[in-house]
Amino acid sequence: MHPAIDRVLISRETLQKRVQELGQEISHDYRDTCPVMIGILKGSVQFLADLMKSTTVDHSIDFLCPSSYAGGTKSTGIVRLLLDLRESIEGKDVLLVEDIVDTGLTMSYLLDNLRTRRPRSLEICTLLDKSVCRKSQVPIRYRGFEIPDEFVVGYGLDYKELYRNLPYIGVMKPLKTEKNKK
Ligand code: IMP
Ligand code: MG
Repeated sequence: MHPAIDRVLISRETLQKRVQELGQEISHDYRDTCPVMIGILKGSVQFLADLMKSTTVDHSIDFLCPSSYAGGTKSTGIVRLLLDLRESIEGKDVLLVEDIVDTGLTMSYLLDNLRTRRPRSLEICTLLDKSVCRKSQVPIRYRGFEIPDEFVVGYGLDYKELYRNLPYIGVMKPLKTEKNKK
């Protein structure tokens, strides 16, 4: 295990199995249409890549990159779009693919923003749901796992841009701050 990780919360095998199930569910629900899956950068990259492979209906992909965390572990609630979609979503069935919904502030902002572009439908697929931390309610259509209020990394999720490459979801060891450094 990586030295920065205290324990594995969700193993590689468990992730793969659940992503397969989500892909099957999405394939069934969208069988009569050709949805666009929008990956929320950067955290959704591993999830989106696996989800695409387990989704058998034709679909396109696009990306959005919001910013709110400024590299720390607490949400600021201030959202900016660092990268916008390439294609119009007007009249399309849109599925937002996110790594984690925590306070929900980022997702609320994205939903409000995307609704003004008049998609035919707009749904959320999140790998992780930290619902105990919710400040803004968002309707989640597909949820991989409900997790407790702990800062997690791996499988796309980062701490200060690191650990996105880990194939599992892990809880980080307590951070050494100036105060508790020995
Ligand atoms: P929210 O606006 O508080 O819902 O946060 C959404 C974004 O914050 C997610 O898309 C993640 O990029 C990031 N985030 C929230 N919790 C965690 C975590 O435990 N680990 C890593 N990133 C997180
Ligand atoms: Mg994210």
